Amino acid sequence: MKNKLLFRIAFAGFIMLAVIACNKKSKPQIPHLQKQGTATQLIVNDKPFLILGGEVANTASSSLEYMNTVWPKLNQMNFNTVLIAVAWGWVEPEEGKFDFSLVDGLLQGARSHNLKVVFLWFGSWKNGISSFVPTWVKGNQEKFPRVQIKSGKSIEVLSTLNKTNLDYDTRAYKAFMRHIREVDSEKNTVLMIQLQNEVGVLGDSRDRSNPANEAFAKAVPKELMDYLVKNKEILLPELSKVWETAGFKTAGTWEEVFGTTPATDELFMAWNYSQYMDKMAAAGKAEYALPVFTNTWIVQPQDKVPGDYPSGGPEPLTLEIWRAGAPHIDINAPDIYLPNFDEWIALFNRNGNPLFVPESRGDLGGAANAFYAIGQHAAIGYSPFGIDNTARLLVEHPDPNDKAPAGLEELPLSRAYETLRQLSPIILEHQGKGTIAAAWLTPEKQTAEIQLGNYKLNVDLWRNRRNPEQAAKIGYGIFIAVGQDEYLISGSDIKVTFTPTTPGPPIAGLAAVETGKFENGRWIPGRKLSGDDILLRYDLGAAADVNQSGSGLQFRGFQHNIQRVKLYRYK
Ligand code: DGJ
Repeated sequence: MKNKLLFRIAFAGFIMLAVIACNKKSKPQIPHLQKQGTATQLIVNDKPFLILGGEVANTASSSLEYMNTVWPKLNQMNFNTVLIAVAWGWVEPEEGKFDFSLVDGLLQGARSHNLKVVFLWFGSWKNGISSFVPTWVKGNQEKFPRVQIKSGKSIEVLSTLNKTNLDYDTRAYKAFMRHIREVDSEKNTVLMIQLQNEVGVLGDSRDRSNPANEAFAKAVPKELMDYLVKNKEILLPELSKVWETAGFKTAGTWEEVFGTTPATDELFMAWNYSQYMDKMAAAGKAEYALPVFTNTWIVQPQDKVPGDYPSGGPEPLTLEIWRAGAPHIDINAPDIYLPNFDEWIALFNRNGNPLFVPESRGDLGGAANAFYAIGQHAAIGYSPFGIDNTARLLVEHPDPNDKAPAGLEELPLSRAYETLRQLSPIILEHQGKGTIAAAWLTPEKQTAEIQLGNYKLNVDLWRNRRNPEQAAKIGYGIFIAVGQDEYLISGSDIKVTFTPTTPGPPIAGLAAVETGKFENGRWIPGRKLSGDDILLRYDLGAAADVNQSGSGLQFRGFQHNIQRVKLYRYK
């Protein structure tokens, strides 16, 4: 009898342990970054995830009532993630008293619309300025010192060189991260955190308060010097050049090591901002270890000196300083509103800095940017700014023949995101393996040559066959080598031909082309494309002279915007 009882207790214990073990196994890991080949991907619920995001206006999230008008629109426009601000002043309105009911309301709104969230912590700085700090911080300049500029005046920018500023912002940020862990570690709605917003000193190239002047007159910290010496051969050229011009010294004051130019002030500020933010990122990760990124106000063409743009933010010149000073920050991301998007993302996607674009345009150009960032630079996602104001997403370069979008679903970005949503399992499978690429074309850059698989892909901006003067304003495409002589291609306003690059017959013909769509990662074929769909030129003799068949793929607007092509070769 006793033995039976003991057996029953042991059996019940075993079952309980098994249940606990099963639950443990089934709880997905916290969202995190993971390498795949040369790419860095965001892993959510244990699977790679592509952020098809958008950022709402700075203060949209301060009102749940307003956000209730926004959530359904985000669904209509095919966003899967929303970037929303949480300001220090909103959650600690009274010193030491935290209220996260707003955060809970935002999470509830996002979840009920099946959206993921990236929170932007507007703490000490937003666009360089300390405008989102609590009123009790703003009103106590003695306790929370500010940046002082050349004129001797102070500006509304908290100084990085003050521990009280750091301690109070960190305390609030830690409380925020702890709260996210408490309310979200089961659901994983929150994917990443943007720490601060576009940091740096405005109005001068550096902080000239007494503590800042003292630090500037001291030696460059050993930690930074060691990093520079160790990485001297692989340093990004922008910083290497400044250091070289000053004689590659391995010790000395900031001006001795980097010279007496405003660039030195910028490097000094970058070190101080990165150190401040690294301490915050580390403290936040100790509560809940979500990936953390910064966003940069990139230098604008009209900017002459640091201070015209925030001095000390992670710019191409200062990226290395940020890597040395802030190892707890996972990504330094650019905000890009300038037309040369392709060049800017290349500048940020260097030396192991993964690409995420937290702010950019959301019109037709935004659709091109999203394709290019994700396809060519393995971006973990794209996010235009101000998406609650849907007028910002309208076509900037309407084609006279195109109809105006009938609804939010038809906006260029909505359609591009719908396509990327369908393709995302395949894109994520290929990122970082050398089997995916993208093109981004404008009237200034009308062609791209892409080596992928066994072929060179010749990509041209769409132009009218009978009237070649008539070209599209923007063309883009994503190309995936899915098999031997087989490509999956999606794009808008481009034409694509193929040139073999391996030994064998020199001409590539189109064996079969079909358009279709993906449902749950499975290809559902639609029309079989041929004839007018693929015919690019009739001068077959001239085409043969340059090893072309005269046929190729055409993507006009959003028509047939996913195509699968199988090639063959002839001589
Ligand atoms: C860049 C900032 O990071 C955003 O918060 C916002 O202020 C936009 N500029 C405005 O265009």
